[in-house]
Amino acid sequence: RWTKVDQYTFSHLHPTSHPTNPALSHALANSQKNNLPDISAYPNLARFLALQCRAARATTALEVGTLGGYTAIWLATLNPSLRVTSVEVNPHHAAVARENIAYAGLSERIEVLEGAGVEVLPRLREEVKAGKRPRFAFAFVDADKENNWTYVQEWVEMAESGACVIVDNVVRRGKLVDPEKMEETAVMGARRLVEEVGKDPRLEGVVMQTVAEKNYDGFLMAVVN
Ligand code: DHB
Ligand code: MG
Repeated sequence: RWTKVDQYTFSHLHPTSHPTNPALSHALANSQKNNLPDISAYPNLARFLALQCRAARATTALEVGTLGGYTAIWLATLNPSLRVTSVEVNPHHAAVARENIAYAGLSERIEVLEGAGVEVLPRLREEVKAGKRPRFAFAFVDADKENNWTYVQEWVEMAESGACVIVDNVVRRGKLVDPEKMEETAVMGARRLVEEVGKDPRLEGVVMQTVAEKNYDGFLMAVVN
């Protein structure tokens, strides 16, 4: 039933996003054609992120895990003043993302930095501290799950007060609390994130569980004090 609910609400609230938005359709089709895994944020989630950005009046966003650029295109499309810095470890994914972003006409506002998040984020942090880059008002973390907390920690150091971060895939069909799954690296990454955000006086966090076409999962959202 949750797929039907998505279809119904989607048809009224964002009827022109698919298939009539050529940039989004092209991003998905071209990603599939180039054999990228089908694990990008689903349309409702991507739109939710874009509207969070808008509500926060964000002009700078960090994304960890570009994949084919689908989410970044959503963010930039719904936020005409937003600049997105997106980090992608896989060179093939980064190349396809740049194609998709160029097709969308968004190359001026979405930069794709190639490299591992654990290497690129410290570099970005230094640039922010040196005043060479503005602080970030928003982040979407959707990469190697074992480094979730590392990415959020790095981002907090280069975030504005009041900035918002959303981390994908923390509930994992409830594996988050399944004693038999706690050894999985992705589950360990999600648990560490939840526990560390809970202890960190710089952050106020919440986890929202979601059901959607891509199953039962959820995201963590945290705001910088
Ligand atoms: C996977 C990763 C994701 O970020 C996601 O949203 C869904 C699945 C995966 O690695 O399988
Ligand atoms: Mg994800």
